[in-house]
Amino acid sequence: MSSSGKPPVITIDGPTASGKGTVAQHVARALGWSVLDSGALYRLSALACLDANVAAADEAAVANLARGLDVRFDGARIILSGLDVTERIRAEGVGNLASQIAALGAVRLALLDRQRAFRRAPGLVADGRDMGTVVFPDASLKVFLVADVAARAERRCKQLKEKGISANLANLMHDLEERDARDRTRANAPLVAAVDAYTLDSSNLSIDATVNAVLDLWSKSVS
Ligand code: CDP
Repeated sequence: MSSSGKPPVITIDGPTASGKGTVAQHVARALGWSVLDSGALYRLSALACLDANVAAADEAAVANLARGLDVRFDGARIILSGLDVTERIRAEGVGNLASQIAALGAVRLALLDRQRAFRRAPGLVADGRDMGTVVFPDASLKVFLVADVAARAERRCKQLKEKGISANLANLMHDLEERDARDRTRANAPLVAAVDAYTLDSSNLSIDATVNAVLDLWSKSVS
């Protein structure tokens, strides 16, 4: 338990394709904790908009869809309204729309309680943009994971190609920069390191080395 009496949380925030999701999963597995991929909730909301033909500009309608998401996290699979959308939500178009609707205050509010409900014993690793600043400000350890844009574009390119999706490095780099700029400059919960976060640069670190660095920070914080 943390000092608040609630299960402990490790937050991993950072820009797109910095490796947060993979690192969060590995850290959670090593500790035997749950994991929250908060970006998936924004991606699911974006997909729900596409399927329902709701425009990103219609804040109230998008927030309604976000609040009413019928979603189940079944291990690594994500089920929306009974359909497995694990692959569909990873499409770049869905990610770009997710980043647009994530700027809307009513949408962020609609997803807040759903995110906090992931906090259960023995602990939670949560990744996103505002995990340490807004959703879990009392987290026991906050990590801000960065990597230079070239390293991130290369990782995303490799990830997409592994899934059989064609990708172009120059276009990806452009998209990443655009999404970063939108996430950093929005008025609601912008992407920013919490004042008490440790910034970790993974540009030249493997996944394993990054996971170990987070686990080291965690051991030091509890010793
Ligand atoms: O995979 P990638 O890092 O690009 O994105 P993601 O973590 O799956 O999140 C998709 C989009 O949702 C991001 O571009 C953010 O704009 C938004 N998001 C957010 O605003 N707050 C979060 N806690 C998580 C994601």
